[in-house]
Amino acid sequence: MTDSGLQLAVKSAIAGIDRESVIIVPFLEDDNLADVPEVAALGGQQLADAVARREVRAQSYDVTMVHGSSPLAFVGAGSRADLDALKLARVCAAASRYVTGRGFTRLAIVDRRLVSAFEFGQAAVEGAIGGTYDPGVRKTRDRTPRRLESITLVSGQGSSVEEGARVGRITAEARSIARDLVNLPPNDLTPRSFAERAQALAAENALACDVLDEQRMTELKMGSLLGVAAGSAEPPRLIVLRYGDAAARIKLAVVGKGLTFDSGGLSLKTAEGMETMKGDMGGGAVVVAAMVAIARLAPAGLSVTGYVGATENMPGGAAMRPGDVLTAMTGETIEVLNTDAEGRLVLADVLAYAAQQGATHIVDFATLTGGAVVALGHTASAVIARPAAWGEQVVEAAAEGLERTWQMPLFEEYRRAMDSEVADIKNVGGRAASALTAAAFLADFVGDQLWAHVDIAGTAFADKDSPFRPRGGTGEGVGTIVALARRLASA
Ligand code: BES
Ligand code: MN
Ligand code: ZN
Repeated sequence: MTDSGLQLAVKSAIAGIDRESVIIVPFLEDDNLADVPEVAALGGQQLADAVARREVRAQSYDVTMVHGSSPLAFVGAGSRADLDALKLARVCAAASRYVTGRGFTRLAIVDRRLVSAFEFGQAAVEGAIGGTYDPGVRKTRDRTPRRLESITLVSGQGSSVEEGARVGRITAEARSIARDLVNLPPNDLTPRSFAERAQALAAENALACDVLDEQRMTELKMGSLLGVAAGSAEPPRLIVLRYGDAAARIKLAVVGKGLTFDSGGLSLKTAEGMETMKGDMGGGAVVVAAMVAIARLAPAGLSVTGYVGATENMPGGAAMRPGDVLTAMTGETIEVLNTDAEGRLVLADVLAYAAQQGATHIVDFATLTGGAVVALGHTASAVIARPAAWGEQVVEAAAEGLERTWQMPLFEEYRRAMDSEVADIKNVGGRAASALTAAAFLADFVGDQLWAHVDIAGTAFADKDSPFRPRGGTGEGVGTIVALARRLASA
């Protein structure tokens, strides 16, 4: 899964590129290609005419192929003002998806110096690899795997391009692990098989891995997580992956919601509402995948521990009922009024466990609320943090990791919306600001560590195909975690 045999090289001029490679050129609005005379020369008069007649399209993600002495693929990159590293990665993904879908296996990507050298290396490689992702994890026929043999980056910008490319490659390969995990069907990816896959990935990448079973959870008094698991025939698992020096001053805990299927429980979802709920383990998937990336990048001077609370939420005969009161590991009692607000019940115990294990910095990833989708759509993940300064670090790391986030507030009123008459807290806070009341719920279960919550409900699963990615798991969160570990590392 991780070692693809892909060749990566950086060359300073197009002259050195082999004739089989398709040369990919991001093409902006009002572009005249003045900065890339070699491209203009390759395309000759035919290209000059096509540009003049506006046949080369600048519309984002449109691909125009021109066959000169080498195949050229111009990919629309929109306006210069909107072009950042994330956009460039998507542009390169669209180009890669287009050309590898037509049998090309060798890509050369031209640096037009629209972003920094590091960002170019990272975005081009991450995009190009990501663009070949095939979601057909259980197809037995008509599968169109895209082959990618080599990526050559054409840049005069030097060694930062190579470092960016290294990060981009490792991140992209981890992202496709996460995408596979999300795309696997819920009868295949159960809490137990999820844990087995995590163990296998840990063994391949020299990570330590512990899997806690329901007996261990009972000893730890994780009544909140176990309450969610009670309605399912599949037993829950708590997956723990460890990287780095446990004695390091900075101990980062990365926590993921791992609902391998969310039916809603007795507060049953509609059939339509369940259609993408195999993806309710998207947070857990990015935690496992990012741990693999971190092991391969080997940042120094910190420990990183990944925790995934893996369970189903099902309406079996032993299921928790609306009205039940659960007791979390912290001793806090929770009145369950809606069994479909299960993610926060799982995270309550996993966050408390991570805090108890001595984390200094915590960040969690969860497909937690429809409210996050209402607020930010499928465009960005919501970050809610205490203190907000730590949230700002997560937002900055997300941008470095080619992901979009937006920080939202944690006002005290959000917690009061969950005051219960019979228990310490109830698990729903009403329709208003539901992404934020959910975050306020989680805040009760962490101590005074730095803590940030990233609600990826809108971003973990793409509802439809787009030029730069197919429908299905996106791996959103992998980039943020990798960048966060790199920021917290000491040189
Ligand atoms: N897994 C869902 C949230 C979700 C919704 C993720 C859409 C991805 C796409 C979560 O467990 C849930 O059901 N949340 C409910 C809570 C409500 C019942 C209080 C929600 O936000 O609607
Ligand atoms: Mn739910
Ligand atoms: Zn859920």
